[in-house]
Amino acid sequence: MPDTDTHPGAGAGLIPAPLSVDGPHRCAVRLGNGTALAAAPGTEDTAHWLRATLGAAFGLPLPPGPADATDTLVLALDPALPPEGYRLEAVSRWGVRLTGGGPAGVFWGAQTLRQLLGPYAFRRAPLAPGSPVALPAQTIEDAPRFAWRGMLLDVARHFLPKDGVLRCLDLLAAHKLNVLHLHLTDDQGWRVEIRRYPELTRTGAWRARTKIGHRASPLWDERPHGGYYTQDDLREIVAYAARRHITVVPEIDLPGHSQAAIAAYPELGNTDVLDTTSLQVWDTWGVNPNVLAPTDNTLRFYEHVLEEVLDLFPSPFVHIGGDECPKDQWRASATAQARIAELSLAGEDELQSWFIRHFDRWLSDRGRRLIGWDEILEGGLAEGAAVSSWRGYAGGIAAAKSGHDVVMCPEQQVYLDHRQDPSPDEPVPIGFVRTLEDVYRFEPVPPELTAEQAAHVLGTQANAWTEVMDTQARLDYQVFPRLAAFAEVAWSRLPAPADRDYQDFTRRMAVHYARLDALGVDYRPPGGPRPWQKRPGVLGRPIDGAPPNV
Ligand code: ACM
Repeated sequence: MPDTDTHPGAGAGLIPAPLSVDGPHRCAVRLGNGTALAAAPGTEDTAHWLRATLGAAFGLPLPPGPADATDTLVLALDPALPPEGYRLEAVSRWGVRLTGGGPAGVFWGAQTLRQLLGPYAFRRAPLAPGSPVALPAQTIEDAPRFAWRGMLLDVARHFLPKDGVLRCLDLLAAHKLNVLHLHLTDDQGWRVEIRRYPELTRTGAWRARTKIGHRASPLWDERPHGGYYTQDDLREIVAYAARRHITVVPEIDLPGHSQAAIAAYPELGNTDVLDTTSLQVWDTWGVNPNVLAPTDNTLRFYEHVLEEVLDLFPSPFVHIGGDECPKDQWRASATAQARIAELSLAGEDELQSWFIRHFDRWLSDRGRRLIGWDEILEGGLAEGAAVSSWRGYAGGIAAAKSGHDVVMCPEQQVYLDHRQDPSPDEPVPIGFVRTLEDVYRFEPVPPELTAEQAAHVLGTQANAWTEVMDTQARLDYQVFPRLAAFAEVAWSRLPAPADRDYQDFTRRMAVHYARLDALGVDYRPPGGPRPWQKRPGVLGRPIDGAPPNV
């Protein structure tokens, strides 16, 4: 049947849509017990992944074999292709040849191959042993639009045990996303083992109770909550991600969002303003006034923390937060005021910049690059630093115009904690209403930027903050299906937002839901939440029209 839909490969329901498809043709290419796998040097990660994944789903053994024999799945590199690009050739009576511009391209091509093999390819045991495993003959050429295709996972507000993070990496890979931004520290919890400072996790990883819903909600979960990743856990997460060509970007948020650290080590706080020994890991939501003291002790402490973080995370970028740092304590603190005078700073905003610039230099001296939330622009930004633009596009535009790299993640478009339908049935409905279609029509590069400035947009990221996502099922519900739309925005070369063919996307989503079902993803169904997905009686927004942030 000719493929008459808008996007190449529409009939197969490929998500994200590839650049071009020649086919599908009438005849099928079959994989079976006799199919060999020929993996050229540099493609071992994908060979390993294919044996594990297709071996589990279909019982295919995929033994090694020569690249020039028939009935072979050939993995090869061709540097003429873009590094993350690939060509997938499925030829009947011959086999499948998957060529990548680099190892990552081969891996993304393998994700497409899995989609072409149907939803059973997403299961972990064969449902019908012996039934043919086949895909239509065709050639697909593909490459991503952006190099940074990310998701933020907030493991501070609600801890997600390690297995959940590994599962998340599998789900990112299936959508050709390649950055996991791990928000590891916040007022409500510290989640990374730091050997030099054991109280960070002994005290800082646990809170006594948790606000349920919006901070104005009267409800509390009186159970203690917490957890943290050991250094071995994080090495495992990073290695598991690397095999999937995903970079894990760690975030240590400072100088705000730091109450868990101050609860563990009270001398980190503004001790001349309040008795920080009485502070506990925070149990509710919002912007917290208890911020780090601008002292040499604080700088040395966080340098020591970051030394261990750099040892765990090879990512070129390290995120140091920099968002939502109220300045009231610094205004009231003689120590902070003395520091402002000593450094001849104009005020508290410049004190925040001083913090950021310190770690910017510290990171670049160690061959890494700082990235932070767009507030870090406010007092001037050091060269080489990059910005996560979350308060809309403005920060990203200003950063790109001044030559800084940007990751676009505006809260108005791609904050996945925000509700996805106006219905009162949405569980704990915080934030803006942002539907699947809204995310599909999100454009990461604003029209204000020239081509040269737009080249500073490294890519885009969807952010899953977890104040109201206390379980993996709740996380799944908020993230899916919108992450599928987001993945297409980040990977595919879509037309301008108004011209995007959302109907075609929803037709492909019908196929994709079967994949998500096979993967066991508790997504929001198109018709709204299933009964157990509702949270009646838990306050999301206090009043309509109130600021969207929890
Ligand atoms: C943020 O949402 N505070 C980055």
